[in-house]
Amino acid sequence: MSANTIEHNRIRQNFEGVSSIWLFGYGSLIYKVDFQFLERRPATIHGWERRFWQGSHDHRGTPEAPGRVVTLIKSPNAACKGMAYRVSPSVFEHLDVREKNGYLRFATTLTFENGSHAEGLVYIATEDNEAFLGHAPDAEIARQIAGATGPSGPNSEYLLRLAESLRSLGDSCPHTFAIESHVRSAAGCDT
Ligand code: SIN
Repeated sequence: MSANTIEHNRIRQNFEGVSSIWLFGYGSLIYKVDFQFLERRPATIHGWERRFWQGSHDHRGTPEAPGRVVTLIKSPNAACKGMAYRVSPSVFEHLDVREKNGYLRFATTLTFENGSHAEGLVYIATEDNEAFLGHAPDAEIARQIAGATGPSGPNSEYLLRLAESLRSLGDSCPHTFAIESHVRSAAGCDT
């Protein structure tokens, strides 16, 4: 599948007669909220794990030197914490462009902190998209992130802001925190 998913997403869900939809964010959608929402609540989705396995050519890297951003990988016993936003369907016109580098919208069940559930959507970059990079050792991922920058800024900023947001949400994401610690020690800012 081509890395540009705008057209794919446009035909994936029918929003006719729908006034609002829950969107689950687990990466930059947690901390970069450049869209309007009706309500925002921390939430968890089950069966998925966050991984820096997606290449970024358009935001945090370039086609010549792609950065690495997060996607979700199926993992039956895992839970991924993030932020859920109740949005009007028109918001996807903007988000489909923002998430165009390989991400498709999938339906998912969200669990809120009080144990209640809702159906919603989540952007996932699956391994069949052209920008997918897949597994690499943490130190190698950290090196790639430390050296990449794109139109949205340094890739390390994406990582550090995500790690900070996950701490605020009370999420323990060993994968993100391990890469963060490699990047911080390489930059000489170990605390
Ligand atoms: C998300 O945040 O939910 C998707 C991945 C990203 O934009 O970083």
